[in-house]
Amino acid sequence: MCGIIGAIANVDIVPVLLKGLSRLEYRGYDSAGLVVVNDGLQRLRTTGRVSELGKLVIQQKACGLAGIAHTRWATHGEPSERNAHPHLSGEKSRIAVVHNGIIENHEAIRIRLKAKGFKFTSDTDTEVIAHLIAFKLQEEKDLFKAVCLSLAELQGAYAIAVMEEAHPERIVVARNGAPLLIGVGKNGNFVASDSSALLQSTRNIIYLEEGDVAELHSHNYRIVNCLHNQLGDIVERTIHESHLSSDAVELGPYAHFMQKEIFEQPSAVANTLEMVFNAQSISPNLFGNEAENIFSRVKNILIIACGTSYHAGLVARYWIESVAKMPCNVEIASEYRYRDSIADPNTLVVGISQSGETADTLAALNHAKKLGHHYSLAICNVPESALIRQTSLRFLTRAGPEIGVASTKAFTTQLASLLLLTVTLAKIHHLLSKDEERHIIGALRHLPVALQIALQVESQVKIWAKSFAKKRHALFLGRGVHYPIAMEGALKLKEISYIHAEAYAAGELKHGPLALVDNEMPVVAIAPNDQLLGKLKSNLQEVHARGGELYVFADVDAQIIESKNLHVIRLAEHTGLLSPILHTIPLQLLAYYVALERGTDVDKPRNLAKAVTVE
Ligand code: M6R
Repeated sequence: MCGIIGAIANVDIVPVLLKGLSRLEYRGYDSAGLVVVNDGLQRLRTTGRVSELGKLVIQQKACGLAGIAHTRWATHGEPSERNAHPHLSGEKSRIAVVHNGIIENHEAIRIRLKAKGFKFTSDTDTEVIAHLIAFKLQEEKDLFKAVCLSLAELQGAYAIAVMEEAHPERIVVARNGAPLLIGVGKNGNFVASDSSALLQSTRNIIYLEEGDVAELHSHNYRIVNCLHNQLGDIVERTIHESHLSSDAVELGPYAHFMQKEIFEQPSAVANTLEMVFNAQSISPNLFGNEAENIFSRVKNILIIACGTSYHAGLVARYWIESVAKMPCNVEIASEYRYRDSIADPNTLVVGISQSGETADTLAALNHAKKLGHHYSLAICNVPESALIRQTSLRFLTRAGPEIGVASTKAFTTQLASLLLLTVTLAKIHHLLSKDEERHIIGALRHLPVALQIALQVESQVKIWAKSFAKKRHALFLGRGVHYPIAMEGALKLKEISYIHAEAYAAGELKHGPLALVDNEMPVVAIAPNDQLLGKLKSNLQEVHARGGELYVFADVDAQIIESKNLHVIRLAEHTGLLSPILHTIPLQLLAYYVALERGTDVDKPRNLAKAVTVE
């Protein structure tokens, strides 16, 4: 999704803007631009990468003491230079705006402003903001007030940064429904949509809250909150020290962030489970102070999420129903939010999200609350995200920043957290003996090592990837708790290699998809040695007998023998309850190496964004 960086200082801030934009690239974008005040507003825009913008900066000698910059992921209007941000308005003193999010009532405002003589040069909703502020400035004269008055007319979720040609000594920024933070520096102040963009300048961060509007100068700033009052009251916001290491957002020795993040999984899972490793028993307080009280009241679970996080929820359903003996529903957030489902006050609603900013997940949780659900839990990787602030309980996955658009370490840490939730629920409802609890803690302690061992299949997967990359379609099969893992494998493959891939519960094969099977349709199967292995083997026979080519990820003791058109990679361990976490690893590696073979942009697949902050 879009990214914002802005800076105001006593030195040239263009290098800060470019570095910040490059750190925001992972969010996904299709154009980039910046504006600086340099004897008037100097605007540069490109549909190329941030590095192209860097070349324009050199060619056009862009520099300045204040500026705002943006990476755009198109929503309103095609990806093109004229739709790229910043957008300008005004005549005598022009203003420039960058914007993340969506203005829902942009059409009505556009009609009004056109009638007043404003000329639109783009198809974006953002340009409406620029003209609206310019219009308010005609009466108000003060940019800060003009911004506050304009925001009162905007509907939607957004974060913006605004500059005025005549007053380059300030930047005005605002947040409403989309993340925005201020960086407080020694020699300047900064604004960004993501703290990683500020690492080169400052670690002192203020997370703006809903309705906050701030004015930044090079040596000071002020924040007002306009949520209940158009012109707002001054508010104090805490300055937090960011502990994000720059290594966490740099590639290091890896070729891609996805590769780095796949290999970080042992440590990401170890960090997420650290509190359990050091304990003899699992404490409900890991989910918040109220957890014990709430967990003891709940009788069923409703999980809401999107994409990979939704797949984590699907795995959790098997665990929660079999171990904690509670009914568990898992819903796609974009569907749930528009459905009139029946609320049960004894339900714990669990929102799962890596970013904590996914618009559909946030809206679905709100919907659940409006329907009458009282208890909510967030499982999330970003401590300062909107999701974390929205729920009564929370558990932070400690995967570290995930930069690759394809979610990897977020997924396995979500699974580890959901297993912990399952065990905690089972314990509180007296379904787990001390011995069983000790056994599970032991297995969790072993998980990072088991993941490390699972990663050793890399070289075998690389060989498979060569032939796989030539295919146009693929089927993924799994049964039971490994069916959602097959879904996750198919999502990873299609997302980054652009090979069409679908997952089926293996038992469903003969009810339709078997018709697709021929020697051009590789079939990937997940074959753990569990109680469904015998059934799965029969399903594999059905494929084999029809000339299909099988790629099977089996447990070491699954006894599946290689033959013509039946390739097997074995995972070294058979880990029971934790098996879905381990079986994820080879599928991630397969997607990664197939994408490499096909030469796609692994970390920034076409058309996709890292955090989907729009509906
Ligand atoms: O940040 P979230 O976990 O809420 O994101 C949900 C999905 O957008 C995300 O998992 C998406 O499906 C990934 N690109 C998959 O790799």
